[in-house]
Amino acid sequence: MGLFTKKPIHSLINDSSDGEKGLKRTLTAGNLIALGIGAIIGAGLFVRTAAAAANNAGPSVTIAFVVAGIGCAFAGLCYAEFASMIPIAGSAYTYSYATMGELVAWIIGWDLVLEYAVGAATVGIAWSEYLNKLLAIFHMRIPYQWSHSPFEVCQLHDSSALFPDEFGMHGIMNMPALFIIFMLTMLLIRGTKESAFVNGIIVISKVAIVIIFIILGWGYMNPANHVPYIPPASTFVDSYGVGHNYGGIWGILGAAGVVFFAFIGFDAVSTAAQEAKNPKKDMPIGILGSLVICTILYILFAHVLTGVASVNDFRTAGKEGSVVFAIQKYMTGYNWLANLVTVAILFGFSSVILVMLMGQSRVFYSMSRDGLVPKTFSNLHPKYQTPYHSNWIFLVLVGGFAAFVPGDIVGDMTSIGTLFAFILVCAGVWILRVTNPEIPRSFKVPFVPVVSILGIIVCAAMIAGLGWTNWARLGGWLVIGLFIYFGYSRKHSKLK
Ligand code: ALA
Repeated sequence: MGLFTKKPIHSLINDSSDGEKGLKRTLTAGNLIALGIGAIIGAGLFVRTAAAAANNAGPSVTIAFVVAGIGCAFAGLCYAEFASMIPIAGSAYTYSYATMGELVAWIIGWDLVLEYAVGAATVGIAWSEYLNKLLAIFHMRIPYQWSHSPFEVCQLHDSSALFPDEFGMHGIMNMPALFIIFMLTMLLIRGTKESAFVNGIIVISKVAIVIIFIILGWGYMNPANHVPYIPPASTFVDSYGVGHNYGGIWGILGAAGVVFFAFIGFDAVSTAAQEAKNPKKDMPIGILGSLVICTILYILFAHVLTGVASVNDFRTAGKEGSVVFAIQKYMTGYNWLANLVTVAILFGFSSVILVMLMGQSRVFYSMSRDGLVPKTFSNLHPKYQTPYHSNWIFLVLVGGFAAFVPGDIVGDMTSIGTLFAFILVCAGVWILRVTNPEIPRSFKVPFVPVVSILGIIVCAAMIAGLGWTNWARLGGWLVIGLFIYFGYSRKHSKLK
C-alpha cells in the first residue's frame, strides 16, 4: 500500500454507525451552533484584534475581518459538504483520508494539532491576561514572572502602578494559563454532555457582552482614531524587534492572518459529528450558522474598539487585556462594564479552550483508530466514554505551550496551521466531486470548483500576509510530522 492509499469512503460511513464502540450521540443542531459560537468567540476577538490593529492594520483591521470571514465562508462551505457526507469524528483529517490518501491525511492530522492544541494554549495565555485584569479589581496581581513566558520581558507600560518594580523582569512560566488548561481537561474527561451544558451558559454571556460593548462603546468612538482608516504602507517594529508590514494591502492581509484566529473553531463543530444526533442535516447548520453570526459581530466590535482606543494604546498600556483597558480609559462611568466584560471573557475563553481540547482529542481518536498514532489515544474511559488518555497526554503538550511560549507566537502558529488545513479541505471537496460523484451529499457546495479555488486563494493570501517567520515555523512543524509518519505511522496503519 502506498503513501496515497485512500480510506474507502464507505468504510468511513460504516465507522460512523458503529454505535457500540463509538462515542455517544447526544448533540442537536442547537447544541452544535452553541458549540461553534463557544469555540469561535474568544481570544481572537478580545486579544488578537488589538494586536492586529497595533502591528498590522490600524482601524482597517475591520477589513481584515472581512477578508478572514470570506476565507472562512468558502472553507466553511467545503467543511459542511464533507461533514454532511462523512459524518464522523476527525474533521479535515478524516475527509482528507478519503480524498487525498494517507500521507496528506497525516499531514492534516498533524497540522490540526497546531489548530486545536496550540490554539488552546493561545487562549489559555489570553485567559491569563484577563485574569490579571480581574485581580486588579481587588488590587492584586499574579507577579509578572509567574504570568508570562520566559521569552517576555516586562515593559514600562506593562507593570501596573501597583507593581512598578516589575519593570525589566523576565517571565518564568505562565501559571494561570497552565491552571486553566488543567481544569478544563478535567471537565472534558467528565464527558461532552455535561460540557455542552456549561458551554451553553457561557455562550449566552459571551455574545451578550460583545453586543453590549458594541452598543455602549459606539457613542465613545473618537473619529480621529479612525483617520486614516487604512494607514499608508510602512513597517512597524514591535517591542521585541520583530518587523511587521503595517498599513496598505499587506498590512490588511497580515492582520487578516492574525485575526483569522478569531474564526477558528467553527470547523471544530465537524469534529463532533460522531456525537451529533442527526449529523447530515445538523452539521451544515451548525458550521455555517455559527460562522455568520460571529462575522457580523466581529466587524462591528473591531470598528468600535479601534474607535474607542488608539493604535498607540494597543502598542503600549493597552497591549494586554485591550478591551477592558479601552473601557476603563475612555468610557468614563462604565467600570461595571469593564468588570462584567472581564468575568464574561474569563468564562468565554474557557469554553473556547474546552472545544479546542475536545477537537484535539477527537482528531487523535480517529487517527488512533486508523493506527496512525498509538492505540492509547482511542482508549475510552470506562464510565464517561471519553478518550481520557488522550486528554491527559494533550494536557502535557498544551500546558507546555501555554506556560512557556508567548501568546503572539502560538497565536500566529495556530492561524497558519489552520489556514493550511483549510486549503487542503477546499481542494478535497473538489477532488471528491471528480473521483466520487456518486456518494450522496445532503449538503452540496454551490459552484464547485469556483468556491474551492477562491477559498484556496484567500487562505493562501493570509498565509502570505503572516510573513516568513511563520512560514518557517509551519515548515519545521511539518518536517517533525513527516519524521513521525515515516518512523511510526506508516508501519502501523490499519489500512496497510
Ligand atoms: N476563535 C477562537 C478564539 O478567538 C479560537 O479564541
